[in-house]
Amino acid sequence: MMEEKIAAAAAQFETLLRQQLARQERMEKGAFTRDFAGAEKIVIGVIGGDGIGPIIVKEARRVLEKLLADEIGSGRVALKDIEGLTLENRLATGEAVPAEVLAAIKDCDVLLKGPTTTPKGGTLESANVTLRRELDLYANVRPVTVPEEGIDWIFFRENTEGEYALGSRGIEIPGKLSMDFKVTTDAGTRRIARAAFDYARVNGKTELAIVTKANIMKKTDGMFSRIAHEVAAEYPEIHAEDWYIDIMAANLVNPDIRGRFQVFLLPNLYGDIITDEAAQIQGGVGTAGSANIGGSCAMFEAIHGSAPRKIERGEGDYANPASILKATEMLLRHIAMPDKADRLAQAMKLCTETERRVVITGHRDGATCRAFGDYLMEKL
Ligand code: IPM
Ligand code: MG
Repeated sequence: MMEEKIAAAAAQFETLLRQQLARQERMEKGAFTRDFAGAEKIVIGVIGGDGIGPIIVKEARRVLEKLLADEIGSGRVALKDIEGLTLENRLATGEAVPAEVLAAIKDCDVLLKGPTTTPKGGTLESANVTLRRELDLYANVRPVTVPEEGIDWIFFRENTEGEYALGSRGIEIPGKLSMDFKVTTDAGTRRIARAAFDYARVNGKTELAIVTKANIMKKTDGMFSRIAHEVAAEYPEIHAEDWYIDIMAANLVNPDIRGRFQVFLLPNLYGDIITDEAAQIQGGVGTAGSANIGGSCAMFEAIHGSAPRKIERGEGDYANPASILKATEMLLRHIAMPDKADRLAQAMKLCTETERRVVITGHRDGATCRAFGDYLMEKL
């Protein structure tokens, strides 16, 4: 009995290994990012998601309609609503991203996506993880700024590998043990490292922190750090330094040193965890935007989840759209419309910092998401 289980597990491991080797080979063939400056037509897919998703995405969509009115009018930009990426639908079809929805998504150039619920346990994969993999959105880029404290960080989180790639493909011997797998590839690391160093170069940043736990995860994180340094050698003007994730988590809350960090390069899971910490320092996970960038497509989303507890309490309408609006700003920059992105950023600053006539608290004592949206539209 046990021997059979061991043999089945070993066979599963062999399959995973072969699949990951094939993926690494595909990646070697090229990672590029698309330049939208001269694009004739840009299709923006708008995905509501679950929980508070549709509520916050509605406001972001209004912003896009307003800022892109001319382009939509001339047909250069199209907003395409993508329905069906809901938990009910995903559970009903047993697919993390139902095939029809995925096909509609693949027809878009960029996506604005609300949060989607991931059930704990079971085998249904997170829709985010599936989309990141299916669209090969390898760079998760998350900026965090607190100007009055001298904080101007940008995180380049590897978005397709690590624990996430195989997190729903683990092995279990019931009553005995469970084992998950983590994978780091050469090509996968090189492309995210290059994205981070290129960003630093273009934006005049001189400090880049490579964050791993290579003292413990010797193979995977060891490789990540080694390749990051190989890439660093091509960028002599940038000072690249290794940090372990635990001490980096402490550094981010240390006011004496955190201001010196600029660009962070990290494997997937550490990037997930530390960007929530960083967002909290900025004012809450509801305030940070997130870009998932790949060679041909890019997806922009809120950094937070679908807030099922807020929906249960009947407070969904009071959700804060700040994070999805930050993502909208990043989307506009990505499609080479920096002026429109700046207009949104300035209006947001006015609405959330300087004037603050309509204040969101996330609860009944604050303004509704819609009321904040109206206020923002007025200031745009
Ligand atoms: C994020 C989220 C996702 C992740 C979840 C929703 C799968 O926490 O984008 O940081 O873990 O990557
Ligand atoms: Mg996260």
